[in-house]
Amino acid sequence: MAGIDVERVRRETAGVGRVVHLDNAGAALQPRPVVDAVVEHLRLEEEVGGYEAARRQAGRIERTYDALAGLIGAGRDDIALVENATRAWDMAFYALPWAPGDRILTARAEYASNAIAFLQTARRHGVSVETVPDDADGQLDVDALRAMVDERVKLIAVTHVPTQGGLVNPAAEIGKAAREAGAVYLLDACQSVGQLPLDVGEIGCDLLTAPGRKFLRGPRGTGFLYCSPRIRARLEPPFLDLHAATWTSADSYRVRADARRFESWEANHAARIGLGVAAEYALALGPDAIAERATRLGAALRERLRARPGVRVHDRGARRCAIVTFTVEGRDSQDVAGALRAAGVNVSVSLAEYARWDFDARSLTSVVRASPHYYNTEAELDRLVAALPDPAVGPTGA
Ligand SMILES: Cc1ncc(COP(=O)(O)O)c(C=O)c1O
Repeated sequence: MAGIDVERVRRETAGVGRVVHLDNAGAALQPRPVVDAVVEHLRLEEEVGGYEAARRQAGRIERTYDALAGLIGAGRDDIALVENATRAWDMAFYALPWAPGDRILTARAEYASNAIAFLQTARRHGVSVETVPDDADGQLDVDALRAMVDERVKLIAVTHVPTQGGLVNPAAEIGKAAREAGAVYLLDACQSVGQLPLDVGEIGCDLLTAPGRKFLRGPRGTGFLYCSPRIRARLEPPFLDLHAATWTSADSYRVRADARRFESWEANHAARIGLGVAAEYALALGPDAIAERATRLGAALRERLRARPGVRVHDRGARRCAIVTFTVEGRDSQDVAGALRAAGVNVSVSLAEYARWDFDARSLTSVVRASPHYYNTEAELDRLVAALPDPAVGPTGA
């Protein structure tokens, strides 16, 4: 397996000359080819108008479907482009035909927006929302999941890599259990797309959602939904427009057959082109090589943080990735992130309200989240550690 040419990818990433960017789980630095493609399309829109630009660049826009499909082992007709990962997830989730008594099984580490949608649906439709316990490593316990399923389980919805830690949930094992149970399987791959290799066939998910701006290094305001042909016809999107469906007679319409039934007509074409270029960029580097280097940098950062007195690392899971979470004794996480920002190091803070089931169970209120990517270096990890404030005497900020 060829490794990453770090010098080259850094040359193609203008931001590395300005900041130590360790917030790839927030929004990565975009590589030059992505930015160039976006700007080029905006310039074309400036010159010939938005509709004409889209017409001239139709082939380029279509390439985005191929690139994303290639990245996750899907067919191009299984991809819908939407404006963010949450909207992708919502379009899938709210398309399910809920009935009283249905059960949703999910993980403790689930993301806030997904949990809020579960709770809203529970209120509206009388469905139950149940979290599968974690195993001793902190990942979803697949045996416990198997023990919980019955014919009333309509959906198994799990976040692959949670927003608040380096844990990688066993997506393919969950897929097997979902298949045995005959339940729909929705995987939130927000933090794994662009970071880890993904194959929807191997995972066995029916639906998968992801944004462009995180580890995939695409533009903000982009996301996509994978919808398997197995279940597509059964899912009527919660919103339809004249792109998702055709108005066939005065009182009838027909929903389109491909996954674009989940899209809307109007879109940011420049950003969509940039998303495709980001996916092509990741494919050219190689998803395995990306994962190997990002994971290694995550482990190296954890090691450095553990060696530092007064720092606690909070990541769990048998398999850990490039999301690294920690607290500094006696320091508020926002203050720690602020001190790092002042030293030119970008990280973010995960708050309890982003993943309340998990934070509450671990008695945490916030954690600092650092997330290296393949274009970062060990020297940058050292910069983070050197810029950390010392622990303070007094109550812990975690
Ligand atoms: C696990 C997870 N799911 C979903 C989302 C939401 O993605 P977006 O902001 O693109 O809607 C995030 C964002 O951080 C996330 O970490």
